[in-house]
This record gives sequence, C-alpha cells and structure tokens, in this order.
Amino acid sequence: MYYSDDIVEEVRSRNDIVDVISGYVKLQRRGSSYFGLCPFHNEKSPSFSVSQSKQMYYCFGCGAGGNVFTFLMEYENDTFPEALKVLADRAGIALPEQEYSQEARRQRDLKTSVLEINRTAAKYFYWMLKSPQGERALQYLKGRGLSDETIRHFGLGYAGPYSDALYRYLKKQGVSEQLLKESGLMQVSEKQGMYDKFWNRVMFPIMDVNSKVIGFGGRVMGDGKPKYLNSPETVIFDKSRNLYGLNFARTSKKRNLLVCEGYMDVIAMHQAGFTNAVASLGTALTSQHASILKRYTDEVILTYDSDEAGVRAALRAIPLLKEAGISTRVLHMDPYKDPDEFIRALGTEAFQQRINQAENSFLFEVSILERSYDMQDPDGKTRFFQAVAARIAAFEMELERENYIEAITGKYQISFEGLRRMVMNVLMQGAPARRIVTRPPVRPEKEDGIRRSQRLILTWLAEYPQLYRTVSAYVHPEDFSDELYREVAEMLYAQLEQGQVNPARITSHFDGQEQQRAVAEIFNTGVRVETPKEQEKAIQETIYKVVEHGIAQRTGALDPADLAGLQALVDAKRRLQELGRLHISL
Ligand code: GTP
Ligand code: MN
Repeated sequence: MYYSDDIVEEVRSRNDIVDVISGYVKLQRRGSSYFGLCPFHNEKSPSFSVSQSKQMYYCFGCGAGGNVFTFLMEYENDTFPEALKVLADRAGIALPEQEYSQEARRQRDLKTSVLEINRTAAKYFYWMLKSPQGERALQYLKGRGLSDETIRHFGLGYAGPYSDALYRYLKKQGVSEQLLKESGLMQVSEKQGMYDKFWNRVMFPIMDVNSKVIGFGGRVMGDGKPKYLNSPETVIFDKSRNLYGLNFARTSKKRNLLVCEGYMDVIAMHQAGFTNAVASLGTALTSQHASILKRYTDEVILTYDSDEAGVRAALRAIPLLKEAGISTRVLHMDPYKDPDEFIRALGTEAFQQRINQAENSFLFEVSILERSYDMQDPDGKTRFFQAVAARIAAFEMELERENYIEAITGKYQISFEGLRRMVMNVLMQGAPARRIVTRPPVRPEKEDGIRRSQRLILTWLAEYPQLYRTVSAYVHPEDFSDELYREVAEMLYAQLEQGQVNPARITSHFDGQEQQRAVAEIFNTGVRVETPKEQEKAIQETIYKVVEHGIAQRTGALDPADLAGLQALVDAKRRLQELGRLHISL
C-alpha cells in the first residue's frame, strides 16, 4: 500500500458508507442500522446490514463485510488503489501522486489509457455503422432481426473496409504506438507495420460489469473465415473473468441466469426480454466464471448449442457450477441450433416454455451417459443402471438420493426398490471416489464459543464505549486468542483511550477481503436480548468467560519456576471472583 494512513482515513471518513452503498443496494432503516438484500449472495429477505455509526457493513447470511473500501472492492472487483481513487474522486479529494510507486502508477495509467482507447474505438465503430459506409453492415444486423434500439443498447458497430482506418483515427487523437500495441486493437507485421485487427466486420463491444468497454468481437458479414475475431487478452481484458451481457443481466429481476455460447445469442435473448442472459467469451466456462455467476444467482440454465460441442460444453460446466454452489438446469433447443435461431423461429413464448421445462443437470448427465450403453441388450441395460446407481450414491443426503432414485425410476420405468438396492450396494462397498456434491457451509456451523465471546466483547466496546473502563480492568488485548483478534483489540483499546471509536478505520489496516470480512464479523457479533437488564447480564457473563479462558490458558503455559507469573495468576483469579459479583450498567 502506498498511501499514508491519514489519506486513507480522510477518504474513508468523507464517504458515508450508507450513502455509498445506497447507490447499489436499496436500504431501509431498521433500528440503529440499515438493512437490504445482500448483493453478494442471493436472498429473499434482507440480512445485509449497514451501520452508520460503525461505518461498516456485514451480511448475517453469507458473512461478507468490511468498510466502504471493502464494499467497492467486492462489488466492483476493484483493487484497493482503484477503490480509493473512486472514493477520493467522489469526495473531491485529490490523491497525492507521489504516493504511487512507479510501477503501480504505470499499471494504473496503462489500464486507464487502454480503457479510454477501447471506448474511443467503440464510439468510432458505432459512428461508422450509422454512416453511409456502414449501410451494408447495418442491413446485415437488421437482417438478423436486430432492432435499432437493440443495436444502440449493445453499442454494436462496424469496422470499415480499410485495414488502417482505426489506426489513423487513433493516431490523429495522439495515441502513442506503444499504447496502440497494448490496446489489443492492432496487429503488427514486418511488411505492413501496424494495422487494424478488425476490418470489414460488424463489431460487438465487450463490456465489463460496469459497462466499460474492455474488448471486441468482430463477425464477418456472411460466410468468411474466421467467423469471429476477438480481442486478445490485454491489461483490461481477461476472458476467464468476464461474461458478455453481465452488465445488463446483473440487474435483471429474474431469479436465474441463462448462460449461452454466443454474442448473437445473448443479444437475441435480451431483445426478446430474457435480459438475464450472458455468454462466456468464445471460451469454455471457467471456475472464475462460476464464482462470478454465484454472486448474482443460485441457479443457472445452460442454453448451449444443441450440437455435440454444446453438449460437451454443458457436461464440463455442470460440475464447475456445482462446486460454486450453483444448481444447473439444461435447456433443450432442438430442433434448433442456438437460442438466436430458436427465438427467431418459434418466438418468445415457446422459449419461455423451454426455460420452464429445462432439465435437471443430473438427469441431463444421465441421459448423455445412456448413449454409451446398448439399452436393447439386457447386460448393457444392467451396466447402465449400475453406473447410474454409482452416481446417485455420490450424493451425500439420503433425501437427495431418494429423490433421484424416484426421478430415474419414473423416467426409465424400473422399480424403485430395485434401483434403491443397487444404490445401497454401492454405498455398502464404499462408494468409489465420492464427488463433492454439497458445498461446505459458508461459515462453520458450530464455532468455538470462546472466539464468539471475544468478538461479542469487541462489538459491545464499539457500541457502548462507556463499558471500556470496566472491561479493560479485566480483559487485556493479549487475552484474545488469535493474532487477528489481538491486533483488532489493541487498536480498539487505543482508540478508546483517545475517546474516538472508529471500527472502519481499524478495518483499513488489514489487507485482503478475507481479513476485512473477519474484522467486520468481529464488530457485528450480537446476541438476542430483550431488555437492558438481560443485555447487562450477557455482558457480565461474557467478560467472565473470556477472562476465565485467558487464565486457563496462562495456567497451562506457566513455567513452574516463574514466581511472578504465578503471583499474577493468583491475582487474576481473585479478580475473576470479584467479576462474578460485578454489576454492569449501561
Ligand atoms: P452467429 O453465427 O453469428 O449466430 O454466431 P453465434 O453467436 O451463434 O456463434 P457460434 O455459436 O458459432 O459461436 C459461439 C461463440 O464462439 C461466438 O459468439 C464467438 O465468441 C466464438 N466463436 C465462434 N466462431 C469463432 C471463430 O471463428 N473464432 C473465434 N476466436 N471465436 C469464435
Ligand atoms: Mn448463432
């Protein structure tokens, strides 16, 4: 980090977290906090809380949390310096340039410049499409059923007939050769020097989730080869982390996302009202894609092409999605090749019907498996059901197994008991290499009670600073049992000494979202109490528990020769008894 704590703190304190998050999440006041639907996992009732006094957010459902920087980093995928810059701009604070390391500044400037060039190119292609030179390209897009509104919405364009038009246009704007090379929009050959990568193609700008243009796909108008050209990976374009159409799909109100293969498919689906469609960019779906999808939904419907390649792509995607905690269904497109063709031929309603009928991914896998057995032959049939039984046995929950046994017996007209016995046999023999089918819970179900008590104390100290004198008489930062908790306690105690509680500032001291989440959790631990009296009692009991635990630990670690240590322990135990009688008042 190249910024002083003071700058970071100034930027943080001048961006009220409730204001900032309200720009992304609809928040409603409830008691001393604001609540809304968590943007980091799918939920129907709000468990995402934002505290104005602590200037922190925390989701009681998925454990996401932190301060205003963490929020931007998680939501926008920003790095810390990027989040800092956005918030500094928002508050009208000029960041001191010299605080960038040279390398960091070079990277930042490069990214900004490459984004700018891509934006300029997108505007240029769009302008070309609407110019007389773009007549044929416009006709091509219209001929494929796209409306003016759709063309504008997706910013489609045309790269003209000359192979140096964009090159000359950008040069005239003063863009350097070096930057042109980095932009992904140019090609270099020994004979020709530098020239446009895209020409005489209709252009599909690829946008990130914030609708910033990060690359392009360009299609020939007709049957030429290659059909599509795509921008190479650049400092701003990473194919394994971006999904075409996600900038629109992420705000669609649908409960699932449709994942398809092509630009045209996304566009056709959006035009037909299926604004929850996205595509991976001419590459197979990656596990990064899956975890990005998981931010927005729990269910994906695969709308891949109906050909062999599409089936293979689906079979590869299903386990990746499952691992990310997404359940998947597969849409049957036949007799059409892809969503674009389907919708053009049968229309919106028919497509909606196919969505409703989309097949459970397990049954889809089984139907593909079936193809490799001779179902006319009794032996083949038996082996097929054995293979199915082995897969069913891989599900951990009995209920899940039963449901699949039922589904399979329904589909193949075999006896429930028969298949169930086969599954049991597999289980008895110890199922071969269990697939991981259930996601580990987001947070450990049962957690160490003492850690929770320690967090409670820190939460209360932040909420009721008046407790500090009493608490600090008994509990010291070194009583906290892990490194992170001790560091947080030390900083909080220091702030309390100064009479200035500021949990969000403490959060800034930790790098990385995992640590910041953990800090947010520390300051958002609560117990359900009805009355102030119960609250006081809970506090007293919690302090007692933490002190008692600290003593037990120190006793265990005591060197018998350490007389001073022994004396300190005896004192501590006496104070513990005192603590048992202490009355805490808020
Ligand atoms: P249309 O034929 O215009 O309807 O395109 P489509 O979207 O149906 O394309 P298709 O199903 O053939 O391919 C799916 C995606 O794979 C495209 O959107 C491209 O991202 C990518 N793709 C297809 N053909 C090529 C190619 O020749 N080269 C590269 N690099 N990518 C391709
Ligand atoms: Mn197509």
